[in-house]
Amino acid sequence: MSKITDSLPITIVCGFILTIIMVLVGQHTITGSLSMGPVVDAGLYATFLTRWLHVIFGIMWIGLLWYFNFVQIPTMPKIPDELKPGVSKHIAPEALFWFRWGAMFTLITGLLLALLSGYLIDALALRHGIGYGMWFAMIMWFNVWFVIWPSQKIALGLVEADPASKPKAAARAKMFSRINTMLSIPMLYAMVGQMHGGFDF
Ligand code: HEM
Repeated sequence: MSKITDSLPITIVCGFILTIIMVLVGQHTITGSLSMGPVVDAGLYATFLTRWLHVIFGIMWIGLLWYFNFVQIPTMPKIPDELKPGVSKHIAPEALFWFRWGAMFTLITGLLLALLSGYLIDALALRHGIGYGMWFAMIMWFNVWFVIWPSQKIALGLVEADPASKPKAAARAKMFSRINTMLSIPMLYAMVGQMHGGFDF
């Protein structure tokens, strides 16, 4: 087992292989269930696969957002100064890589999902319930790519910048990270409720 779990890529590939096995076995045991296999129609199944990938990328993004807000930001002041670079030079840049690309692929799969479902324009024009969730999430995506990441590059010293600008950049990154944490709550209400809440608003 440790041969698999020692390597993250192999662990992830095994997750996908397990999914395929589950789908193949499930097709024989649960007939007609879309969630278990490509039984109904190819278009519907493609939409379903996009939704599945969308949720996977969404978890990567929001999981890391909440890690920053629930774990890293509150813990940083308690870490002795000589150990802080362990976080700012090693953990944070790595986390920010998966964070911003998680955001990018969540956006791409989310827009594709709305397109495949036939309501992209209606949702963007707020004529479809999920539109609010999509707008909140798109604002969050914008904040990640155009405010948080550029500010973090300055704050963490990943780009040349005037040292005096670092605290300002760190404060800006923190504020927008908090704004995104706040928006993630109504965003998920609209995103999931639209599909499973039995309402449209
Ligand atoms: C970045 C912009 C985003 C867009 C454009 C977007 C778009 C969509 C669309 C169109 C749906 C399909 C609803 C349906 O099936 O009718 C959806 C569902 C969903 N999205 Fe997003 N989304 C975004 C961000 C996020 C984020 C950040 C998360 C965080 C985890 C997320 C989680 C979900 C979940 C859990 C569902 C429901 C799946 C289900 O209930 O079957 N989305 N999204």
